[in-house]
Amino acid sequence: MPNETLSPIGAPERVSHARASQPGKEWWRTAVIYQIYPRSFADANGDGIGDLAGITARLDSLAALGVDAVWLSPFFRSPQNDAGYDVSDYCDVDPLFGTLDDFDRMRERAHELGLRVIVDLVPNHCSSEHVWFQEALAAGPGSAERDRFMFREGRGENGELPPNNWQSIFGGPAWTRVTEADGTPGQWYLHLFDSTQPDFNWKNEWVWERFREILRFWLDRGADGFRVDVAHGLMKADGLPDVPEPEEGESLAEAMMKPDEVPYWAQPEVHEVYRDWHRVLAEYDGDRVLCAEAWVEPLSRAALWVRDDEMHQAFNFSYLSTPWNAPKLRTVIDESIAAFGDVGAPSTWVLSNHDVVRHASRLGLTVHAAAPASGIGPASEDKPDEVLGLRRARAATALMLSLPGSAYLYQGEELGLPEVIELDDHVREDPTFHRTNGEVYGRDGCRVPLPWEADAPAFGFNATGASWLPQPAEWSAIARDAQEGDPASTLELYRRALALRAELRLGEGSVAWIDLGDDVVAFRTGEVVVITNLGDGAVELPAGEVLLASGPLDGRAVPTDTTVWLRPTS
Ligand code: NOJ
Ligand code: CA
Repeated sequence: MPNETLSPIGAPERVSHARASQPGKEWWRTAVIYQIYPRSFADANGDGIGDLAGITARLDSLAALGVDAVWLSPFFRSPQNDAGYDVSDYCDVDPLFGTLDDFDRMRERAHELGLRVIVDLVPNHCSSEHVWFQEALAAGPGSAERDRFMFREGRGENGELPPNNWQSIFGGPAWTRVTEADGTPGQWYLHLFDSTQPDFNWKNEWVWERFREILRFWLDRGADGFRVDVAHGLMKADGLPDVPEPEEGESLAEAMMKPDEVPYWAQPEVHEVYRDWHRVLAEYDGDRVLCAEAWVEPLSRAALWVRDDEMHQAFNFSYLSTPWNAPKLRTVIDESIAAFGDVGAPSTWVLSNHDVVRHASRLGLTVHAAAPASGIGPASEDKPDEVLGLRRARAATALMLSLPGSAYLYQGEELGLPEVIELDDHVREDPTFHRTNGEVYGRDGCRVPLPWEADAPAFGFNATGASWLPQPAEWSAIARDAQEGDPASTLELYRRALALRAELRLGEGSVAWIDLGDDVVAFRTGEVVVITNLGDGAVELPAGEVLLASGPLDGRAVPTDTTVWLRPTS
């Protein structure tokens, strides 16, 4: 690989190349995709919960932000025990969020604005209220209906013990015993998440056929693709063996999350499912996309989900989990580009989503590697330094948006929203909080409804002031309209970064490292030099035009926790 030379600041050492997208083709290779969390985005009917009509009304602000696509977390029929990730009808909109007509209007408006629409598919489990599960309960042991789910006899003399030692990701056992039609205690069913989220049996062809239908339903309705929930979990090892005992100092919950050793994550057969779906998407025009939510490490393993005949993208959770540390960031960037590049896929980049502590707070903690669903609350020992967190978050985003490939943004991060820590126990809804008896705060703190207007009820989330989670009073200062037009605001930083990223085609770039010291992440991509200073001292800027700075510069010096995009004087 040829090394570029860059006279003002020395020659780059190594070059990581991402495959460039072809114009008009495979838009997702370089796309910036904005995650909408429908409950908390915008509420048109004023009941305190966001809805599809609210999204439609606010889509122009996302077009103005400069993103390419939106991904909507689930809005399907659901009893909302896990905020919609417990689906009771995959082909209908929950009345809480509107109707299928509202979806059509939203998609139409998005497409008018040039935004693609990605919907969330939840294939690992459905809601216990889904008619398929209700039929399975009614049909009894040994029936075809039960075989669509993971029913097993219990262990112990009278089947009183769960079939194995698996624990729910949300806390507590992963098995629940049912009462059979004759009133006696009966079989157990598996739920890797809440007890109201029974796992499907993906070794049953009936399940495959239903999901092909669901894919086609949304593709026919104009969806541009799917984000696939728990994409590493569908297949379970035959015989459902126990999870190995936790190592010393490790909780069973931690042992449960180890993707290499547990019998329900990353089983090889899962890839056949995505090959099947790849073929379904290929029946449709317009470059439809599948994105895997697969918490799998290392990156070379996660890349198996995006081989040529499987999905198109996988969330880069290794990147999200990397602490604010220059050598670690350089390594994860290199490894990402190499691992995904090896299978011909773009890398993705992500810093926040609805499952982790918002990065504006996370990067102000002592330990900032993200653990899904952990959360922070009033009694947490490690509380964020908000000023430090926001400064780093802005620098981290400016770095991320310069990288080649595709980036995911989570609603509200463009406002620099922090995690909301001070939520009373009684308003918390995350099943993680309730299933751990409040020991784990969970994810409500990153799901608080967005502030749009400083001086409106619920900060413009709706017209009534109702809000399913309370918004902190100080959010009036960071509402979208308060940031608009202020060049120092986080919103304007995102806008400028997105506009430049598109103009300079950074999504198609490559990373040619420049050595500016161990604590500095510096590289050249296309005509831009990117410098992120994570060290204590300032870094002198090479000659050139500053295109973007994540924070104030000290003359030509880049202060700590700051990212600069520079067009060097050649
Ligand atoms: C991952 C989703 O992102 C999360 O919010 C959900 O609780 C679990 N999967 C279960 O569906
Ligand atoms: Ca509503």
